[in-house]
Amino acid sequence: MSANIEEMERRRAASKMGGGEKRIEAQHAKGKLTARERLDVLLDEGSFEELDTYVEHDCVDFGMQENKVPGDGVVTGSGTIHGRLVFVFSQDFTVLGGSLSKRHAEKICKVMDMAMKVGAPLIGLNDSGGARIQEGVASLGGYAEVFQRNVLASGVIPQISVIMGPCAGGAVYSPAMTDFIFMVRDSSYMFVTGPEVVKTVTNEVVTQEELGGASTHTRLTGVADNAFDNDIEALMAVREFASYLPENNRDGVPQMPSHDPFDRLEDSLDTLVPANANQPYDMKELVTKVLDEGEFFEVAPDHGGNILTGFGRVEGRTVGVVANQPMVLAGCLDIDASRKAARFVRFCDAFEIPIVTFVDVPGFLPGTDQEHNGIIKHGAKLLFAYAEATVPKITVITRKAYGGAYDVMASKHLRGDLNYAWPTAEIAVMGAKGAVEIIFRHEKDDPDSIAERTREYEDRFANPFVAAQRGYVDEVIYPHSTRRRIALGLRKLRNKRLENPWKKHDNLPL
Ligand code: HXC
Repeated sequence: MSANIEEMERRRAASKMGGGEKRIEAQHAKGKLTARERLDVLLDEGSFEELDTYVEHDCVDFGMQENKVPGDGVVTGSGTIHGRLVFVFSQDFTVLGGSLSKRHAEKICKVMDMAMKVGAPLIGLNDSGGARIQEGVASLGGYAEVFQRNVLASGVIPQISVIMGPCAGGAVYSPAMTDFIFMVRDSSYMFVTGPEVVKTVTNEVVTQEELGGASTHTRLTGVADNAFDNDIEALMAVREFASYLPENNRDGVPQMPSHDPFDRLEDSLDTLVPANANQPYDMKELVTKVLDEGEFFEVAPDHGGNILTGFGRVEGRTVGVVANQPMVLAGCLDIDASRKAARFVRFCDAFEIPIVTFVDVPGFLPGTDQEHNGIIKHGAKLLFAYAEATVPKITVITRKAYGGAYDVMASKHLRGDLNYAWPTAEIAVMGAKGAVEIIFRHEKDDPDSIAERTREYEDRFANPFVAAQRGYVDEVIYPHSTRRRIALGLRKLRNKRLENPWKKHDNLPL
């Protein structure tokens, strides 16, 4: 018995040492934590329960039978974050570069299967040189097993990927299919083909960081959502982020303690919208003033900045916030903003998170760049997402709601449950100037007449009342009472039941 215990302890110790002292030092020298240190930061103290500590690869090619480390380059198991269950895997770069063998993949699949069985989020910490080259196709099969599970888990349990080192080749497609991707600046990168292949094929010279670093993916491509300066910051952010998420698609949003009165009035909101309709203001001020304790976890803050997406709470319960941001591109909808918000809305809908939408949108961004890159299909994604969403939807129009963008932004016509407008709202087909230039084209050489017509148009349409008279806006509200209205609305809508017609699945405009 004691010999067996000793053997267990020996193997455990070997597994804990991963690829050995030297490689751990090398990992630290790069500013990176080891796989286990990362789990220590991510999970509640002492909550981690490891599985498959002793799993080893079965490869016998290239002398691999002499190169085995218990655990085979990935630490898997479960733990808690703020007391709530999560399943995790954390790739260990010190063991064969965290490369994915068949057994390594099986370990990941096992925790994915368990997460699905019990309905708990999956968090993957990625730090890997990709397919275990010595294993060849067995490794590719392993990836595909993970991919298949990512797809089946999508919309059932939240899946979060944290990229904390290399993630290259086909390996990128597992994180790509998860719900959120966080990256660490300067130490992580994601690309399908690396700089050397790029140089050979296209003759472009590019660094890893430029091609697929955190900045590239959180600003330019939108592949990743949020970037952090180091491992600890990233993992602490995941802890905070996880606190907003439901455990699965059936349990509903978590209820956290809240000491912020639901009817807190914010007088400053009465003067948030400037008198000049062309002057921007910071929509984030409204968002934070409405949410509990002013806390807003912004998702993808550096990409598609003309729309804000993120999570907050009202009366302790999670809401997803989508808001046009007049500070960037006047809050227009463009390709990036439409895709970003569409994906966010679909996440919220899949996980029964109510959506609060703040609208100040002058329309879709004009230009050949937008048209030729498919704004029609991309804009349709957001429209589709809002239209199919059956979760509680509360909309507040603060200023502009023009044209097709009015329809798109959770309008009454897309089954908005409560659609409010501030007195400053302007709900119309387009802005007064554009409208007059079209309707009164024949008077274009008479500036006085055009000015008069513009004033007339503004008087008639630059207000919320035309829409309110038709019931397209449920109520025109004082800006200072916005939090109260939203809180009461969410209370009312808590038992909302709405089902879309039966179908195998929809055909989202991709
Ligand atoms: C086996 C690997 C490995 C891999 C790294 N190692 N990647 N072993 N399979 N894919 C090993 C190295 O041999 C080395 O072992 C240790 O991990 C650390 O690697 P280094 O190269 O010393 O580290 P670093 O300089 O930081 O470079 C990291 C790296 C580089 C950029 C990731 O290792 C690299 O280019 N690796 C190969 C990447 C690759 O081509 N992967 C296959 C991609 S295709 P020792 O013993 O010396 O410490 C793919 C397809 C997936 O993944 C398809 C899914 C559908």
